[in-house]
Amino acid sequence: MPFSTKQPTCTLLFILSLSLATLFATTLRRRHHHFLPHPTPPTSTHHYRNAFLSTANNSTIAAHLRHLTLHPHLAGTPPSLSTAVYVQSHFQSLGLTTHLTNFSTLLSYPKHSSLSLHLKNGTVLPLPLSEPQNDVVVMPYHAYSPSGSAYGKAVFLNYGRDQDYYALGVEVKGCVGLVRRGSEMSRYEVVANAAAHGVSAVLMYTEGDYKQGVERGTVMKGLGDPVSPGWAGLEVGEKLDLDDPRVMEKFPGVPSLPVSEEVAESIIMSLEGVRAPYAWRGDFKSGGGSGIKRVGPGPTMLNFTYEGERKMATIHNVFAVIKGSEEPDRFVLLGNHRDAWTYGAVDPNSGTSALLDIARRYALLMRMGWNPRRTIVLCSWDAEEFGMIGSTEWVEQNLLNLGSKAVAYLNVDCAAQGPGFFASATPQLDDLLVEVTKKIRDPDSENLYLYESWTASNKGVNIERLSRVDSDFAPFLQHAGVPSVDLYFGSEFPVYHTAFDSYDWMKKFGDPLFHRHIAVAGVWGLVALHLADDPVLPFNYLSYATELLKYKDVLNTLLEGAISLHPISSAIQEFTAAAIEIEEEAKKLRLDQNLDEFSVLRRRMLNDRLMIAERGFLDSEGLPGRQWFKHLIYGPRGSTENKISFFPGIADAISQVSNEEERKATIRHEIWRVARAIQRAASALRGEFT
Ligand SMILES: *[C@@H]1O[C@H](CO)[C@@H](O)[C@H](O)[C@H]1NC(C)=O
Ligand SMILES: *[C@@H]1O[C@H](CO)[C@@H](O)[C@H](O)[C@H]1NC(C)=O
Ligand SMILES: *[C@@H]1O[C@H](CO)[C@@H](O)[C@H](O)[C@H]1NC(C)=O
Ligand SMILES: *[C@@H]1O[C@H](CO)[C@@H](O)[C@H](O)[C@H]1NC(C)=O
Repeated sequence: MPFSTKQPTCTLLFILSLSLATLFATTLRRRHHHFLPHPTPPTSTHHYRNAFLSTANNSTIAAHLRHLTLHPHLAGTPPSLSTAVYVQSHFQSLGLTTHLTNFSTLLSYPKHSSLSLHLKNGTVLPLPLSEPQNDVVVMPYHAYSPSGSAYGKAVFLNYGRDQDYYALGVEVKGCVGLVRRGSEMSRYEVVANAAAHGVSAVLMYTEGDYKQGVERGTVMKGLGDPVSPGWAGLEVGEKLDLDDPRVMEKFPGVPSLPVSEEVAESIIMSLEGVRAPYAWRGDFKSGGGSGIKRVGPGPTMLNFTYEGERKMATIHNVFAVIKGSEEPDRFVLLGNHRDAWTYGAVDPNSGTSALLDIARRYALLMRMGWNPRRTIVLCSWDAEEFGMIGSTEWVEQNLLNLGSKAVAYLNVDCAAQGPGFFASATPQLDDLLVEVTKKIRDPDSENLYLYESWTASNKGVNIERLSRVDSDFAPFLQHAGVPSVDLYFGSEFPVYHTAFDSYDWMKKFGDPLFHRHIAVAGVWGLVALHLADDPVLPFNYLSYATELLKYKDVLNTLLEGAISLHPISSAIQEFTAAAIEIEEEAKKLRLDQNLDEFSVLRRRMLNDRLMIAERGFLDSEGLPGRQWFKHLIYGPRGSTENKISFFPGIADAISQVSNEEERKATIRHEIWRVARAIQRAASALRGEFT
């Protein structure tokens, strides 16, 4: 039975949602909503939204996924270009306007690697570095790792955090270090930290169900094309030399390779030396590390070689544009990357197939007479796996237009990894997300809406924030200040970046009936329809004010009152007042359905204030030491000591090691910068000069 026939009629849906809402209202801690009920939208809008929801089709999604995952399609290779052609042809077959934007960027590929274990008794064992029966996929490697060899004592370094080196308490200079993934550190941070401790090469493994799987990944610091930092990597454009310090500092100083858990265990079993520090034992997942007793260094020696090449490659972003009928110069962007380390069934083509099905359904609406009020752009990014390169170059190229015209960016990377819905967003989009999940069927429980299962499993609404730098929303939000959303099903999946991330795995484990794909596509496509069609943008900045207040309180606790947060408190007050005011105005305008010139203009003026406010959080100087990251509320940590996921500039200043006076002065300065950012956003909401 096709999924779409499961959609009950509109009335049924309504009755069902009412009764369920009453049922759950008593048991769930519910979040306060500031939305007044919307005026009933014109029937046609309703009609189109229902048509969008009722025409979902899991077979077409499955067929797209099957096609996209027939071959591995690593960025910069011919099969990857084929997927670009596939996506573009699909858009074209629907009658959508499409184009490609190509960039010439520095990518990185492996040529050769070897690893052998030299035991105390003189035995030499070569260790397998690739996955069984998979000579079609790229051999496991770390993109941008320097080439190099090392022969040294093996040592187990736990997660490779500073605290792990202290717990170990022995000299590791010249050793070949073995690290497991799982801390919040990026691969770059882990390898760079090992190099700082004198380790001469790093092996990394991931614990999980697939002991022979090997997790590929990039070890580049930051994001975007390393030879065109801050500007678009055009074919004919400025490129830095490979030995330019600005390029070199993006890569770790020592080579690294990913290995399977099986290989890691065989190394660990051979170690003598230091007893596994007590602090590490609690970290071991059952089974995985239970055998770890001694962690070296030695007596086992490891002979490590990696040879790779960094070379310029052309990458292809594909776009479909549905031009807005009334405000063609306002843009709602939906994006997903297309390139994969291997077959990419989960990462990222579950998202791609959802995007392609949204395109099909939008085209269907267009045939029924629909045209969005604002322009919708569907984006298929390349080279995300190397460091969000396709999206970053494009954002850099289009920065001014994005800044003045982009309403929101909606990202989906791994749409379906397993059960459970996850959403992240900038807070002004919270209410919209919540409303939309009330319209989408839960893929895993008959008769429930997504909202119900999602809030039940979190004991309320749980929307994460976007300080992470792990998918294509990062350049949009953290560089361009575009309100953003990121959606997925499943918290993690055991075949991540391995050769086992295939269509078969998806059929068996990830999403056997492709209902989770349907649910993601539903939320994604419906949020976009609201953003593109609602006459008044469905943004609510009161959620932002609430979040900012929460952050201030956490910060206050962290600082133990030693430094005044008064500048931030009063900026938040100002912001809250502006948010209340504009929400009142928005409520009025949502009721006003006049189409006269003045009403249209008033809505447009209000929408501009709502759209632009997020840009206030950007600061031209960016975060200290990482100037490219301009957003002062959400962005990556600079220091691994930093434990909070907001106000990255302040948080880094708190965790810095320096003399107390200097440290306090830096913290104060960062506090003022955040306060000014919040004031800028408030002033954009008010929309008036001082
Ligand atoms: C779903 O798509 C498949 C093939 O892509 C098609 O055969 C089927 O009729 C569609 N189902 C509905 C209900 O549209
Ligand atoms: C981008 O690359 C594709 C594939 O090589 C090519 O067909 C197309 O002409 C290029 N587009 C532009 C604008 O250069
Ligand atoms: C390490 O491996 C390399 C490449 O296989 C080999 O040339 C070299 O002799 C080995 N070194 C030792 C000490 O075995
Ligand atoms: C689509 O959903 C229907 C109904 O649950 C199911 O019978 C069918 O197998 C699914 N199709 C695919 C390709 O998973």
